[in-house]
Amino acid sequence: MKTILTASRLKKVYGSKKSNHYTALQDISFSIREGEFVGIMGPSGSGKTTLLNILSTLDQATSGTISIDGIVLSAMNEDQLSEFRSKRLGFIFQDFNLLENMTVFENISLPLSLHGHPPGVIKERVTKLAATLSIEGVLDKFPSEISGGQKQRTAIARALIHRPALVLGDEPTGALDSKNATTLLETLSTLNEEEQVSIAMVTHDAKSASYCSRLFFIQDGNIIRELKRTQTRERFYDEIVDVVSELGR
Ligand SMILES: Nc1ncnc2c1ncn2[C@@H]1O[C@H](COP(=O)(O)OP(=O)(O)O)[C@@H](O)[C@H]1O
Ligand SMILES: [Mg+2]
Repeated sequence: MKTILTASRLKKVYGSKKSNHYTALQDISFSIREGEFVGIMGPSGSGKTTLLNILSTLDQATSGTISIDGIVLSAMNEDQLSEFRSKRLGFIFQDFNLLENMTVFENISLPLSLHGHPPGVIKERVTKLAATLSIEGVLDKFPSEISGGQKQRTAIARALIHRPALVLGDEPTGALDSKNATTLLETLSTLNEEEQVSIAMVTHDAKSASYCSRLFFIQDGNIIRELKRTQTRERFYDEIVDVVSELGR
């Protein structure tokens, strides 16, 4: 399987003056293969959000390189980056970020209509993805008329509708109650297994992490451990809890 993302020797230093320099990422290298569901774990302040923002092209590393889907990010200018972001990446936000004055259908199709896809293609793709996510019955409703779980699946559909090379999420379950968090994680995991959607998710929660196929543990801006899921999710969860306590958190 092909490599979707390669990060090589990433370093991130915040602050311009010497006195307020802070090195949030020291020296981070890893890759993500197509169809992987990768989790980035670590305590608060370890550099997870910094790393995800850099992978998302929303921030730049101080040094090091990233290529996503064969394209080196630093080779692009702002316009090219913004086009790359909207065509090749999908984002799952903590709050769903749905537009209240648009229907579920319009919310999901937004990334396609912005790029001028023909209405017939849009309708076909939205209908199919909505069926996969069991929201085909609410396509004509507005966000205020649907449940929390349906909003969440609408947001996932919008993140996937343009078939991004990579879907990114920073603590996507952070604002959810445990039932909705489980639904979100199960949905992501099903899409990953059945449609080979590649996902990179930041989390500090062992249960969320147990849905991933591979995990990186970050501490003080370095990857200090990697864990591959070879067993059931329940066993993987136990393994994660062991690593977390071993790492002293
Ligand atoms: N814009 C910024 N300017 C200066 N320091 C920052 C900035 N953003 C984050 N940091 C610092 O970098 C470190 C890593 O932060 P972050 O990536 O948000 O960690 P995490 O998401 O793992 O909690 C923290 O010590 C934080 O205070
Ligand atoms: Mg964070």
